[in-house]
Amino acid sequence: MSIGWAVVGTGRVNRFMLPAMKGAKHSHVVAVLSRDMGRARAFAAEHGIARGYDVFDDLLGDPKVDAVYIASPNALHAPQTIQAAEAGKHVLCEKPMAPTLAACHRMIDACGRHAVKLGIGFQYRQYPAMQKAREIVATGGLGQVLFADIKVEIADRGMPGWYDDPAMAGGGITCLAGVHRIDLLRFILGSEVAEVSAFVGAQTPGCPYEEVVVGILRFVNGAHGTLHFGLNIPHGTNRVEVHGSSGSLFADTNSPWWGGYTPELLLKSDAVSARYEFPQRDAYRDEIEDFNRCLDGDGPPLAAGIDGLRAAEISLALFESARQGKAVRVGAP
Ligand SMILES: NC(=O)c1ccc[n+]([C@@H]2O[C@H](COP(=O)([O-])OP(=O)(O)OC[C@H]3O[C@@H](n4cnc5c(N)ncnc54)[C@H](OP(=O)(O)O)[C@@H]3O)[C@@H](O)[C@H]2O)c1
Repeated sequence: MSIGWAVVGTGRVNRFMLPAMKGAKHSHVVAVLSRDMGRARAFAAEHGIARGYDVFDDLLGDPKVDAVYIASPNALHAPQTIQAAEAGKHVLCEKPMAPTLAACHRMIDACGRHAVKLGIGFQYRQYPAMQKAREIVATGGLGQVLFADIKVEIADRGMPGWYDDPAMAGGGITCLAGVHRIDLLRFILGSEVAEVSAFVGAQTPGCPYEEVVVGILRFVNGAHGTLHFGLNIPHGTNRVEVHGSSGSLFADTNSPWWGGYTPELLLKSDAVSARYEFPQRDAYRDEIEDFNRCLDGDGPPLAAGIDGLRAAEISLALFESARQGKAVRVGAP
C-alpha cells in the first residue's frame, strides 16, 4: 500500500521534509495546505504535488489523503491534529507537540477516539547512533547508568515571526531544538524523568523567549543528567554522553540544519573500546518510512503522541523550576 501524504504549511522544515517524503518508500505526496492559494499552488508546482488547498477541511475531504504532516506554528498543532483525526486522517505532527499539556492530551485523546495513528517529529530517534546507544544502555553495556549529559548549542537566526510570539511558539530554544534533546535522553536511557531543576534566561535585550536553558535531571531509574540549550553559540557542540558504572558512550547529535552530523558512536567500557560508524542517512526520510510502516499495521511509530507529551512535561517543568527557583517534579500540576 502506498500512503498518500498531505503537508500542512509551506515553511522552512519542508526544505528537508519534501525531498525526504518524495524519496520515501511506500508513499507519495498528494496535497499541500497554505493560508494562501497562490502559495499553495506555487508550492505544489515546485514539489510536483497534485493539489494545493487553502481550506483545511477541503484538504481533509480529499479521499487521496491518508496522512497529514503538520508543519505549522506550534500553537496550531493541537487544533489541526484534532481536526485531522476527526476526519479520519493519520497525523505526523512536528515538535514540540503543543505548548500546553492539556493540548497534548487532547491530541492523544482525539487520535485514540478516531483510531488514527499519531506520530511526533522527533527524527533524531532515527539516527542509527542513537538507536545503538539505546541498545547498549538497554543491554547493560554501560553497567548501571549513572549520568547523562546533552547539549544543543546553535546560532539559528532569521526565524519566522511567529517564533517571537510566546503564545504561538510556547518557548524559545527549548521548543526550537531542546525538546529533541529531552526526547533523546528519554529514548537512550529508556527511563522517565522524575524531577528537574533549571536556570532559564536570554542574552538578547528584549528577546521574548528563552535563549539559554541549563538543567539538572533526576531520572526514575536513579540516573542523573544535565542539559544545556543555547541559541547564541555558533561554534558550540551538539553531543550526548552517557556514563555508567562500567562504560561510557559519546555521540554527535548535530543535524543538517547546522552543517550535518557525524554518524558514529564511541563506546569505552571495561569490556570494549569501540568506534561504531554508520552510513549517512536522511533521518526525515527514515521518519516517514517509519510512519508508513506503522500505517501498514506494523506497530507504533518510533516517536508516538505519548513521547510528545512526556517531552512537553519535561520542558514545562524546566520552565517552572526556573520560575519558582527550586526543583520541581515532572508532570506535577
Ligand atoms: N523536526 C525538525 O527538525 C524541525 C525543524 C524545523 C521546524 N520544525 C517544526 O516545524 C514547524 C514549522 O516550523 P518552520 O520553522 O518550518 O516554520 P515556518 O517556516 O514558519 O513554516 C510554518 C508554515 O505554517 C504555515 N502557517 C499557518 N498558519 C500560520 C501562522 N498563523 N503564522 C505563520 N505560519 C503559518 C505557513 O505556511 P503558509 O504561509 O503557506 O500558510 C508557514 O510557512 C514548527 O512546529 C517547528 O517546531 C521541526
